[in-house]
Amino acid sequence: MNSLLRSHQKAKMLVLLAGLFVVHIATAIMLFVSTIANVWMVADNVDFSVGLWKNCTSGNCDGSLTYGDEGAIKAVQAFMILSIIFSIISLVVFVFQLFTMEKGNRFFLSGSSMLVCWLCILVGVSIYTNHYAHSEVNFPFSSHQGYCFILTWICFCFSFIIGILYMVLRKK
Ligand SMILES: *[C@@H]1O[C@H](CO)[C@@H](O)[C@H](O)[C@H]1NC(C)=O
Repeated sequence: MNSLLRSHQKAKMLVLLAGLFVVHIATAIMLFVSTIANVWMVADNVDFSVGLWKNCTSGNCDGSLTYGDEGAIKAVQAFMILSIIFSIISLVVFVFQLFTMEKGNRFFLSGSSMLVCWLCILVGVSIYTNHYAHSEVNFPFSSHQGYCFILTWICFCFSFIIGILYMVLRKK
């Protein structure tokens, strides 16, 4: 009876860890997509968008950015790349800890890497929001936020939840 209960708990734990793993991979992929796809701001009436690297006309992304503030966009690029790196480090550490860590310990190392990832997203997306996300200022069309901008905010929420769960969960 007792061992049945234990194996039931263990199965629940495994499902939870597998779910976390999947959400973590999804977050890393979304971060990657939002960083490289140039669809952070989209013009309302013209087929035009800008991202962190290029401007796109009709899906053809080889225009240069004409944002005013070069330093700020470089900082956003840097923090988004850092966030990808830390989310991958966290994933690798998590898998490593899954096999090597002693039972009863928390996934502290992968949790803290993921919270660093969360901080990088926080800084990057805050700078972008502050400087560019509300702009007719940066290019001559009225515009709205594109899917990359929204994905990044979703990653912001997910990375926090994942980081906290890693910190809280004990290995069974
Ligand atoms: C987009 O890029 C092209 C080519 O570099 C540039 O001539 C154009 O001014 C840019 N458009 C806007 C609105 O920033």
